[in-house]
Amino acid sequence: MQLHGRDDDIKLLRSKLRELAKKDDCDEDAAKNHVGEMILVSGTSGTGKSTLIHKGLAGDASKIGYIFVSGKFEDKLLRPLSAFSDAMSCLAKYITVEHNNKMGKGPSTATLLRDKIQNEFDEDDMEQLRQVLPGCAELLGTRRYSLPSSQAQAQADAAVLIRSGSGSKLGDVRRRASLTLAGKESISRMHNAVRRLLKIICPCLKGVVLFIDDLQWSDTATLDLLKSIILDGEIPRLLIVGAYREDEVPE
Ligand SMILES: Nc1ncnc2c1ncn2[C@@H]1O[C@H](COP(=O)(O)OP(=O)(O)O)[C@@H](O)[C@H]1O
Ligand SMILES: [Mg+2]
Repeated sequence: MQLHGRDDDIKLLRSKLRELAKKDDCDEDAAKNHVGEMILVSGTSGTGKSTLIHKGLAGDASKIGYIFVSGKFEDKLLRPLSAFSDAMSCLAKYITVEHNNKMGKGPSTATLLRDKIQNEFDEDDMEQLRQVLPGCAELLGTRRYSLPSSQAQAQADAAVLIRSGSGSKLGDVRRRASLTLAGKESISRMHNAVRRLLKIICPCLKGVVLFIDDLQWSDTATLDLLKSIILDGEIPRLLIVGAYREDEVPE
């Protein structure tokens, strides 16, 4: 499909991506000096935001070896973290299926990553990651040992709190207010676990573009998580792109 009138925007997006790729390639200590960035594309409905990113950036990303993954919020489907979780599922699927097919002898990227992940996280973190990113279950691997049932129940309760602790779209202030301190600590721990997961995955790949579409329908849990990822400063080879309807952003 021919994109009309978007040459400058496409040029800008591609140059940003190449700039990031070059910085991470040149900087041997990129993991320590990386400045998180996010590109936001705004406009009213139907002005070509999604098309611009899918057609103008995704192909270029794969040309330089970056994996392009995306997730999209839906107006009616209010599943907290859904678009982020969907994008991460695409990434995990790519690693466990497509990328695996390209491997020759020796352990696959998926196996290497799974080992690193299993060494990095304790079972509490793993359980939280499985709850928040169910599509990454295969990449995360199966549990090594069972939690005592009381601990497992506490984790499940915390995960429910995380999932219900969102709702900018719903405007459900009561739900947010009901977050307990334990819930907040759990959320911060979840942010930390997701960031550590990205720190393991992204450097093992050439790079990742993570596109979250229709952010105007996102939950606050997603915005908080994205902020935490961008501000981390030690996640190399990751470009987050978002698109939103500027006239439909909730107050
Ligand atoms: N630059 C473009 N040139 C031609 N058609 C376009 C362009 N950008 C978008 N379109 C078309 O316009 C429609 C709306 O685009 P879309 O990307 O879905 O908008 P948005 O995400 O802003 O709501 C789609 O049918 C798409 O194919
Ligand atoms: Mg769109």
